[in-house]
Amino acid sequence: MEANPNDNSYDSLVEDEIKFWSKELIKSIRKGIPINLDYSNSRLFKASEKSNDLYFHPEIYKAMYDKSFLLNQSTIEGGKALDLVCGPGWLARELNRRGMDVEGLELNPFLVDVANLYSKNRKNKEFSLKYSVSDLNKAFFEKEKYDVICADSGLHHVSKIDRLFRQISKALKPGGRFVFREHIDRDVPISILNIITLPLVFIAGYKNYWKVAKKARSLIKETLYMVINRGETVEWGSAFEDVGASKIVSCAKKYFDVKIERYSFSIFTPVRIIAESSLDLNKKIKWINYLMRIDRKLNQNGFYGECVEFLLIKR
Ligand SMILES: C[S@@+](CC[C@H](N)C(=O)[O-])C[C@H]1O[C@@H](n2cnc3c(N)ncnc32)[C@H](O)[C@@H]1O
Repeated sequence: MEANPNDNSYDSLVEDEIKFWSKELIKSIRKGIPINLDYSNSRLFKASEKSNDLYFHPEIYKAMYDKSFLLNQSTIEGGKALDLVCGPGWLARELNRRGMDVEGLELNPFLVDVANLYSKNRKNKEFSLKYSVSDLNKAFFEKEKYDVICADSGLHHVSKIDRLFRQISKALKPGGRFVFREHIDRDVPISILNIITLPLVFIAGYKNYWKVAKKARSLIKETLYMVINRGETVEWGSAFEDVGASKIVSCAKKYFDVKIERYSFSIFTPVRIIAESSLDLNKKIKWINYLMRIDRKLNQNGFYGECVEFLLIKR
């Protein structure tokens, strides 16, 4: 289903989307400084807290999701950047630390307030950092304003994606770059490979068997869904998870010159199993790093993964 800004139901979908991400942020802020607020300084308030929720655990998250491509390809020292679907603003914040004037755009006013409040005491005031509310299904950008536009894992929430790509192209200076990371449709061999790794839950030392059964059931359900639907992106979560990755990839190729297109995270099931297991933190990170090395080898040899990263150049 595609959320259409002209439909009557659109406002209530926006409300649901806002509620969902506000709740997520409140949940994570209670535990510490979440990674999506401050990537470099993210931490749990209680060092002893062994959160098994990988999205709240900075070290686990960083081992699983390598953001170096996104960061490095988006950095143009002294340049102007725009971070789309920025959430509480980690990417904009990092680019600002690297010496860029940055704007972040986000649908959710609560996330924008938190992002701006957190920026008040930042050190490098010589470069600007500002977050604003914007619905990217409706936004109009200024012509040729930015050197870089970037987005982390949020384009699949914007139903008018074709329109957004055209706006992005317009807003970039000649030769400007659009860098993004996105979930993609998973292919069938990869999904099957991931099912085969499910017995790992036992090796990974899950303490509670009911928890194991529940986890295995949801992983199998998710993987079967992908196989049956030939891999169309599946994410159960917020109201706006509605743009298939194939659409995003085809827009990228339609409106931009592709300089780099790279895939990662093929063996997401074993990595997630380890991340959520009851192994101790150091062991978890060691295992995840090991699996991610295998993952890179798979991707270098033509396997697809859960994520795609693009460096696109304005035509
Ligand atoms: C998966 S989160 C990614 C957030 C951030 N980029 C990050 O890496 O943490 C998706 C974000 O997209 C935002 N979003 C959803 N629909 C949007 C829209 N139409 N316009 C702007 N932002 C939107 C949500 O509020 C949410 O913060």
